[in-house]
Amino acid sequence: MKRPMIVASIVAVLCFHVFAVAADKCFVCHEAMGDKASTLFKRDIHFAKGISCSGCHGGNSNTDDMQEAMDKANGFRGAPKGDDVSKACAACHSDGVKMKSFGSRLPTGQWEALQSGVHAKLSLSGKEHIAQCTTCHGAHGIVSVSNASSPVYPLNVVKTCARCHADAAYMQTYNPSLPIDQLEKYRTSVHGMRNAKGDSKTAECASCHGSHDIRSANDLKSAVYATNIPATCSKCHSDAEYMKSYNIPTDQFERYAKSVHGLALLQKHDLGAPACNNCHGNHGATPPGVESISKVCGTCHALNADLFSASPHKKGFDALKLPECETCHGNHEIVAATNELLGTAPEAVCSRCHSASERPKGYEAAGAMRQLTDSLEAAEQDARALLDEAEQKGMEVGEAKFTLRDARQARLESRTAVHSFNEKKFTETVAKGLSTASFVRQEATNAIDEYYFRRIGLGVASLIITILAVSLYLFIRRLERQQARTGTHNPQSNQ
Ligand code: HEC
Ligand code: HEC
Ligand code: HEC
Ligand code: HEC
Ligand code: HEC
Ligand code: HEC
Ligand code: HEC
Ligand code: HEC
Ligand code: HEC
Ligand code: HEC
Ligand code: HEC
Repeated sequence: MKRPMIVASIVAVLCFHVFAVAADKCFVCHEAMGDKASTLFKRDIHFAKGISCSGCHGGNSNTDDMQEAMDKANGFRGAPKGDDVSKACAACHSDGVKMKSFGSRLPTGQWEALQSGVHAKLSLSGKEHIAQCTTCHGAHGIVSVSNASSPVYPLNVVKTCARCHADAAYMQTYNPSLPIDQLEKYRTSVHGMRNAKGDSKTAECASCHGSHDIRSANDLKSAVYATNIPATCSKCHSDAEYMKSYNIPTDQFERYAKSVHGLALLQKHDLGAPACNNCHGNHGATPPGVESISKVCGTCHALNADLFSASPHKKGFDALKLPECETCHGNHEIVAATNELLGTAPEAVCSRCHSASERPKGYEAAGAMRQLTDSLEAAEQDARALLDEAEQKGMEVGEAKFTLRDARQARLESRTAVHSFNEKKFTETVAKGLSTASFVRQEATNAIDEYYFRRIGLGVASLIITILAVSLYLFIRRLERQQARTGTHNPQSNQ
């Protein structure tokens, strides 16, 4: 910019202020009294926009006359109380046309959003909502939300929310079951530690919960409702540009969405499947450390975690500082487990650490366990095929079919039993299934044999009947012929 232009613009801004301030007789008189409101107002964004005290309080701001200025007849409302506070703010902030007339492009509708959120419940007095606009923004001395001194600026907002949420006595009166440890836990998280050090880009209360439309975690529309959480976290964590300076991967959501967990939660709406926070925590969000992964996974897969803890891998992995479940299953892109994971083939996870020369005991066990699994699967399939055949032949095999479920159950149990990483224990589980499968196989074979037996019986019977019928026929023919012969020599017939 050239110097004359700079001067011109400074003059323009000054004129605007002098004019605006001069026109605001409310401010002039109150400033002369040196009250708190007008002192704070000097740094208020509304003051900078030329908005008068009367913008919120009503009255006539063009007169020096105290009475006239603050006359109810001139719309003077005094200091608003209760819900009238938010209504005074909404008179501009929910009116797009009015906001444009001040040259503002800010979003509108904060009041409407606030009404649909949890803070619009009635306060203890029963006369007003829990939070007004001023609860979070203040009344005088309001600055832009991106100004570092704003109470809702990322580094300050945690205190603004915690003023109520960490106040045990206060929260108890509203909802005794609501925890009050959010700030405390937040301070232990990667987000909270960075926030305390002045990093305004990490998550704070409002980045996860929203600012005006804050809802209970059980509300389907809440940003922290289970099925919405992955999107809430990935707003930042999948934004490579935003996360550039941190040097951490930004593919968590992409991978998670393809995982058994992501598919179950996001596609099947199975609330039993984990969202990001089930593994990372809500307020204390950190990557689960090497020591805690099996605890995290074990909250849902308890049996696997118990077996693992008692297995030879527990000690072995601890010594190598390997994360427990993650080493074999991954973290974000956990896929359905198959028996391909098990064994000595290159694609089996066991081969990563066990070979004929390296940790050979585990290598042998892996091979043997895979063989057992395969033979159980084969036995189950074989029994099923025979049952199907018997059924097609019209034999009654309902009971055997029911028993086969036990073999299937043993197969499922054996998948979990893998985590004992103990060939003997594994063999026991598989043996149960193998004996059931062989029992069912026998039942099916018996039914098929019976079918053939009946078929042969029927054949023999019809052969006997045919022979009988033929002999009967021949016998009758012989009788008839005999009768005919004796008939010609019958003397009585010629009488
Ligand atoms: C000539 C001086 C003067 C002018 C002009 C003036 N006020 Fe006041 N105002 C006062 C005084 C004095 C009080 C009373 C202070 C007290 O009671 O402690 C007061 C009180 C108030 C209060 C507090 C009322 C309450 O109910 O607590 C508000 C709000 C207020 N003024 C706003 C305004 C607004 C808005 C305007 C312009 C439309 C305005 N004032 C113009 C002098 C003035
Ligand atoms: C953006 C809206 C807004 C503007 C502009 C505004 N006020 Fe207020 N004022 C309020 C609200 C809301 C209250 C109610 C008390 C509260 O919520 O803190 C209030 C309360 C007051 C009170 C009561 C005592 C107190 O401090 O709480 C006085 C006096 C007052 N304002 C004076 C003024 C004066 C003088 C101006 C102009 C210099 C002004 N206000 C501009 C919103 C505003
Ligand atoms: C007379 C209309 C009017 C009233 C009443 C009003 N505001 Fe504003 N407010 C504005 C305008 C205009 C701006 C500046 C917008 C901009 O810079 O784009 C603004 C800015 C703000 C900002 C800063 C937004 C940002 O980050 O740039 C906040 C916060 C705010 N107002 C809160 C309030 C609160 C709280 C109240 C009620 C106590 C209130 N306003 C009452 C017109 C109003
Ligand atoms: C529970 C606290 C809380 C309450 C109550 C609240 N706000 Fe906000 N407000 C925030 C936070 C936090 C932000 C910052 C959002 C961000 O950084 O994106 C914000 C941002 C804003 C902004 C900037 C534009 C925007 O929407 O992001 C305006 C304007 C604003 N609030 C006005 C209001 C008005 C008007 C009310 C009352 C109807 C209100 N706020 C009530 C917390 C609150
Ligand atoms: C990284 C995202 C994140 C941040 C940051 C965050 N929260 Fe939460 N918050 C959550 C999630 C997720 C839940 C829901 C947990 C659930 O499903 O029960 C939650 C739940 C809550 C609850 C309900 C009670 C509870 O503790 O489960 C409150 C109240 C709450 N948060 C307040 C806050 C406050 C205050 C802050 C700032 C100090 C904050 N939150 C910061 C994600 C976050
Ligand atoms: C004026 C005190 C106050 C402030 C400030 C406040 N809250 Fe609240 N908040 C409450 C009260 C009270 C409730 C409980 C409502 C109920 O369940 O009856 C609540 C409920 C919540 C809930 C829903 C908890 C649940 O799962 O039921 C969340 C989430 C929440 N607040 C987050 C925030 C965030 C984020 C901020 C800051 C931007 C904030 N609150 C600021 C008082 C406050
Ligand atoms: C406002 C943006 C934002 C949101 C929303 C957000 N995060 Fe973060 N998160 C960050 C930033 C920035 C870091 C710091 C990265 C670092 O230090 O490595 C971080 C760090 C983390 C870390 C630690 C990574 C490490 O360095 O080891 C975890 C875990 C994490 N976030 C999980 C979550 C989860 C889970 C959610 C949702 C409940 C979430 N985040 C929501 C911005 C966000
Ligand atoms: C099934 C548990 C689980 C789920 C679900 C999960 N994570 Fe993770 N996440 C982990 C584990 C375990 C690590 C530790 C990685 C390591 O240190 O080897 C991790 C690491 C991270 C990190 C650190 C950087 C990295 O990629 O290693 C971030 C950030 C993160 N997760 C964010 C998320 C987000 C966002 C979601 C949801 C979209 C999510 N996580 C879902 C278990 C999970
Ligand atoms: C040394 C590798 C390894 C480790 C470590 C490991 N698993 Fe597995 N896991 C497997 C193999 C192999 C299978 C597949 C078994 C099959 O289908 O035959 C499997 C299958 C599973 C299954 C599906 C079968 C079932 O039980 O429902 C789950 C769930 C599972 N693992 C969870 C875990 C958890 C939780 C941990 C940590 C406590 C863990 N795994 C640690 C190798 C491992
Ligand atoms: C909040 C509960 C929860 C947590 C925590 C959890 N899971 Fe799961 N997991 C599930 C559910 C539910 C399924 C079944 C999904 C489906 O319907 O396919 C599943 C499926 C699996 C499967 C596939 C099972 C199969 O039959 O093939 C594996 C492997 C697995 N989880 C491993 C893990 C690991 C490793 C962790 C920890 C890093 C973990 N899970 C954390 C609930 C959880
Ligand atoms: C990340 C490396 C790693 C993977 C993957 C792994 N193991 Fe191991 N395994 C070890 C370590 C370390 C030990 C500890 C004892 C040792 O050093 O031999 C061990 C021990 C064992 C043992 C006990 C051997 C003994 O000395 O009694 C068995 C059995 C075993 N593993 C089976 C398996 C099977 C089956 C798989 C595949 C599902 C597997 N392991 C995958 C590292 C691994």
